[in-house]
Amino acid sequence: MDCRHIQFSMDKSKVDLWQLQALFNEAAFWARERTLEDLEIAINNSNPVVTVWDGTRMIGFCRATSDGIYRGTIWDVVIHPDYQGAGLGRKLVETALSHPLMSRVERVYLMTTHQQQFYERIGFEENKSTTMVLHNTYEMSALSVSKHSLEFQTKELDTVSV
Ligand SMILES: CC(C)(COP(=O)(O)OP(=O)(O)OC[C@H]1O[C@@H](n2cnc3c(N)ncnc32)[C@H](O)[C@@H]1OP(=O)(O)O)[C@@H](O)C(=O)NCCC(=O)NCCS
Repeated sequence: MDCRHIQFSMDKSKVDLWQLQALFNEAAFWARERTLEDLEIAINNSNPVVTVWDGTRMIGFCRATSDGIYRGTIWDVVIHPDYQGAGLGRKLVETALSHPLMSRVERVYLMTTHQQQFYERIGFEENKSTTMVLHNTYEMSALSVSKHSLEFQTKELDTVSV
């Protein structure tokens, strides 16, 4: 496949949420049924966000979160099936890694179910020691927020009464 016309962008404002939702539904089993509203939140809170374009068609995506120095994590790496196997996935991840928020971090993490070999080709290695996960829910978040604010209010009252 001749990919010389394919373009990579790190301009978040270019992300087409409708095309992104369709790309995920087609090729990203973990990201099916994400709403446009939630995708927008994820993109606003990620940096860099990389998109891959064949003209006006968005054919690839990934995003990262980073503290800029210690830890960064890459998320939602996907290349449309019509374009896989041509080196675009590698360039997509390498573009994210080249961003100033990622290029200096000590460790870059990612989670993958089936694509270990793809990431190994790029230089990642298996890391079995980092496996904790919290399956958070809105109910749990609400509960812990109200618990914390209750504790905070109690402390404030204590301070006032002393
Ligand atoms: C994984 C994915 C992004 C790879 O993109 P791609 O454009 O097909 O990959 P590339 O052509 O850039 O491949 C880069 C290298 O990895 C190798 N590779 C790619 N996929 C591989 C696989 N599944 N198993 C083994 N090697 C693989 C390629 O052979 C190539 O090797 P090379 O260094 O010898 O040239 C793409 O297949 C995809 O979007 N899959 C569906 C979504 C997905 O699973 N994303 C990852 C979620 S963590």
